[in-house]
Amino acid sequence: MNIRNILQYSRSEAKAKDRDGVRRAGAEVGGAPSTAAMAAYPQTRLRRNRASAWSRRLVSENRLGADDLIWPVFVQEGESTEVASMPGVKRLTIERVVEAAGEAKELGIPAIAIFPVIDDALKSDGGDEALNRDNIVCRAVAAVKAANPDIGIMCDVALDLFTTHGHDGLTRAGVVVNDETVEVLCRQALVQAEAGCDIIAPSDMMDGRVGAIRRTLDEAGFERVLILAYSAKYASAFYGPFRDALGSAAPLGGNDKRAYQMDPANSDEALREVALDIAEGADMVMVKPGMPYLDIIRRVKDAFAMPTFAYQVSGEYAMLKAAAQNGWLDGEAAMMESLIAFKRAGADGVLTYAAIETAKRLKAG
Ligand code: PBG
Repeated sequence: MNIRNILQYSRSEAKAKDRDGVRRAGAEVGGAPSTAAMAAYPQTRLRRNRASAWSRRLVSENRLGADDLIWPVFVQEGESTEVASMPGVKRLTIERVVEAAGEAKELGIPAIAIFPVIDDALKSDGGDEALNRDNIVCRAVAAVKAANPDIGIMCDVALDLFTTHGHDGLTRAGVVVNDETVEVLCRQALVQAEAGCDIIAPSDMMDGRVGAIRRTLDEAGFERVLILAYSAKYASAFYGPFRDALGSAAPLGGNDKRAYQMDPANSDEALREVALDIAEGADMVMVKPGMPYLDIIRRVKDAFAMPTFAYQVSGEYAMLKAAAQNGWLDGEAAMMESLIAFKRAGADGVLTYAAIETAKRLKAG
């Protein structure tokens, strides 16, 4: 499908559905849910279905399972350490990541995403360490694969964790340059695929990177490696704890990524981003952050019917945990509610730092 077909498809899909995203023959665009087939109160009492646990289970429209989860893990050299702003999350040594992947697999979690802490001494203006075949990400991927060949491994493609300035690409006179960056990202993706990474996830928001990475992977014989594109990635304040955890915050404070990540005010633009990534060969698409962007997930799922993922980012996790630690929220219930919201919005799966605790809770029933 070329981009024009995809956009056309998305328009006709949108017309066939009402505001709830439910397809109804002859439904007017934007019309309210039809009440024609429903008696009025008191014949109809919606509370009847809600009265018992068994009937609530019967009519439940969405379900969250371990199969829906991708677990992001942080890896570093030396010792494992706690991330202060993300209670319950640690930066793990490679050996601990291997154990953690085994635990995830036992719990039925299909995939993990590995994010590295790069020593300051290894960072540079051009982020060259990202291309080092022996860097910590590659070693972690290879170690996990060797011990657990059946768990999916996802790696970010972006330079922010490797550059001294913390931007996702190469900078020239203060501008993150697009096409030169894409060339480096292709090489980064290749290095990760060679290490055994199953899912390449470009998170940099450069134009044209998905197509270029796809071509690079195919030419090198990695046509079976998947691409999960961070398609609608917003310039968000909710990434703060992640940048603390991995030391990727700009040295002079406040990473301003607004010249490449999306404006939180925009929604139509997200569909154009997703359409381009699909046309360029993305296997799966992502909306990020999660909870403040549920409307985008719904629009993307309705328009493209693609495998669609949400990223419950570090700031969302931190808010829920901090409130729970203060006794202001029931942490477990709030976490489950926020995760089922992604399914309801149309996501096929969720990247969440709470994957392990959630899978355990789901198993316990
Ligand atoms: C790197 C990247 C970021 C996140 C995932 N990949 C941060 C950023 O773009 O600054 C954020 C994840 C989170 O906050 O949990 N490009």
